[in-house]
Formats: sequence, structure tokens, C-alpha cells
Amino acid sequence: MGLFFKSKNKTGAMPRPVQEDLGVSGNAYGIDLGTSNIKIFNSQTGKIKVAKNMIAIQNRKLLFAYGDAAYEMYEKAPASIKVSRPINYGVIADINNMEQLLQSFLRDEQRGVLRPADFFIAVPTDVTEVERRAFYDLVRDAGVKARRVMGVEKAIADGLGLGIDVKNSQGCMIVDIGFDTTEISILSLGGIVLSKLLKTGGHVFDQAIVTAVRREYNLVIGMKTAEAVRLSSHSQGGRGTTVVYGRDIVTGLPVERILSSEFVEKSLEEHFSGIADQVHVILERTPPELSADIYRHGLFITGGACQEEGLAQKLQEECRLDVNMADAPVNTVAIGLSQVIRKKQYRNLAYTIEGLAE
Ligand SMILES: Nc1ncnc2c1ncn2[C@@H]1O[C@H](COP(=O)(O)OP(=O)(O)OP(=O)(O)O)[C@@H](O)[C@H]1O
Ligand SMILES: [Mg+2]
Repeated sequence: MGLFFKSKNKTGAMPRPVQEDLGVSGNAYGIDLGTSNIKIFNSQTGKIKVAKNMIAIQNRKLLFAYGDAAYEMYEKAPASIKVSRPINYGVIADINNMEQLLQSFLRDEQRGVLRPADFFIAVPTDVTEVERRAFYDLVRDAGVKARRVMGVEKAIADGLGLGIDVKNSQGCMIVDIGFDTTEISILSLGGIVLSKLLKTGGHVFDQAIVTAVRREYNLVIGMKTAEAVRLSSHSQGGRGTTVVYGRDIVTGLPVERILSSEFVEKSLEEHFSGIADQVHVILERTPPELSADIYRHGLFITGGACQEEGLAQKLQEECRLDVNMADAPVNTVAIGLSQVIRKKQYRNLAYTIEGLAE
């Protein structure tokens, strides 16, 4: 385990930037465009901003709200206001709204006045070149005064954020379980040996709860309620119950029901197994020399939904590996990007996306 060290920083807060350490002159941003949350590392403040990656548009053209305020309106807004997520399954699905969102978040970061800056964007590995290129186009066209746009493989950023010395360590497996996606990657010596992007994560868990509640209790609940159920049922140590409010299918009236944490766990079981099976598949395809290293180091898990009660245990049992959970699962990629920005030895882990299609 000599090559690894675990981050001691539980909160994910960054220490103040030291100018000598800052390899990029002036402003730089590290951006993880998550489906659920956007994370922005600002080199000037040394902080990571996390906000809901959502936009509310009124009458098809007017920006009504963005970020956490737009999320508040989700599933509640009138027909004239459309609340949406511009990222789907880890890739940009709605470029115009994403540009508008990015500009709004960066204006907030810079108190209204945009100054020239370098951008380091985390990009999933298992996507097409067109999808990859879209991350570059987004920053270039968002009107955010981008000086340079660099890409960093998301799994590499995850590795750095987990405290792994990615340039020197051999054979480590990282599973990032986010909202719409789960990215399983094997890293070795600063590169990616294998990577697979699955369409599963917290959002699929929420859908499973919505379906199970409908089937079992004839009750229709929203996705936000389903997420709240998931988060509250395990905050009570896995033994609690949660009260939910929704609409009864038969009477059509609003009602409340009590859900047990066992019910929640049971609804999620098959999705946990699905992730474990895919981890298994990747392990089977891994070259044997790297398998030995992975066995020694164990599995690294991150992404907000890796904290779901019972998931780490399921992976441990099914894959027969130790499981190391990130200290700040939502922020891991952004912490990794901050290392690329601030530490010279990691700078060559970033590449120019610009060069890709030219
Ligand atoms: N304590 C927790 N327990 C379980 N799930 C959690 C917890 N905290 C956050 N989550 C879940 O994590 C998910 C968001 O995580 P994250 O920010 O890593 O996703 P994302 O990066 O936006 O999505 P993706 O990587 O798929 O594009 C949500 O589904 C949320 O419900
Ligand atoms: Mg993510």
C-alpha cells in the first residue's frame, strides 16, 4: 500500500492556494459537469462550489432560475416554466442551456465581471469523440473568456481526488457512482487501461423506489421524494422508517404512508447487484498483473451515490475485494482537478481538447 495515501480532509474544503504551487498563471477553473451537480474549483479562492446542474426557462426563452433555485422548482413548476438538466448520462444533451448555466455560475464566482481564465474540464472516457469535443465547444462558446480549455479524464481526476498517486501507481480500480452514470475504470501509471460508463446511479435508485412504492402501496410519489426517502432511511442507521406524501392511484387523493428502510433496501437490491456484476466483468478483462495490484489495493468507490447504505458491502461481498470509500464523494473529481491546476507534476495529465478534431 506504499503508493497510496488516504486524504485526511473530510469536508473536501481546499486549503488556500499557494502562488508558487499554482502552475497556471492567473485564473483557472476546474469543472466537473455532473448530471445532478456541477462542481467548480476556483483557483483564486481555493474553494469548490457545488450546485444543482439545472435550469428553469420561462416561455421557452427567458432564464427564470438556475442551480439550486431551479431544482427547488423541479416537479412543481407551471407549464410555462420548463425545468431541465442539460447533461444526460454524463454528456452534454442541451448545449444552449448548458452554456447559459456555465456563464451564470462563473459570473457568480467572479462577482458579475468575467475575467480571462484557463479551464480544466473533466471528461468521461467511454464516450464518442463528438461527445468529448462538445465539452470543449461548450466552454469556448459560453462567453466565459476562456484562454485555454484543457481536458482531464474523469477517472484520473477521481484518482487524484482519492489521494492516489496516479502517475506512479499501478493497477487501481475506481468506481464513480453518480446520478445518471457509474464509471468503472482501471488506472495504471497515469493512464486508463479500461473504462466503462454505465447508465445507472442515484437517479436509477430513485426510479426504483418510485416504482416499488407504486406497486406496493398504490401511491404515486415524485423523484425528489424518492431521493429524500433514500437519504433519510439510512441516516437513521438502517433501522428507521420514513413518512412519504403522494397521490393514491385509486382515490386520486393526497395521502401519507410510512416506508421502512427494509423496503427501500429491497427495492435497490437488484441495482446494487447490477453494478457489482459490471465491476466483475471489468475485473475479468483486466490483465493478470494488474489484477494482483487491484487485489492488494482494493476497490476505490466515489460519486455521491456510493454512500448509499449497503452498496459498499454488496461490492465487497460480490467482488471479494476491500472497498475504500472517498472522504468527499461528491467533490472527488473537482478535488482531483484542483491538483492538476495547482501542482506542476500533474499538469501533463491534462490535454488540449482543441487538438482532437483538428
Ligand atoms: N449520503 C448520500 N447517500 C446516498 N446517496 C447520496 C448521498 N449524497 C448524495 N447522494 C446521491 O448522489 C447523487 C449525486 O452524486 P454526484 O454529484 O456524484 O452525481 P453527478 O456527478 O451529478 O452525476 P453523474 O456523475 O452521473 O453525471 C444523487 O443521486 C444523490 O442522491
Ligand atoms: Mg459525477
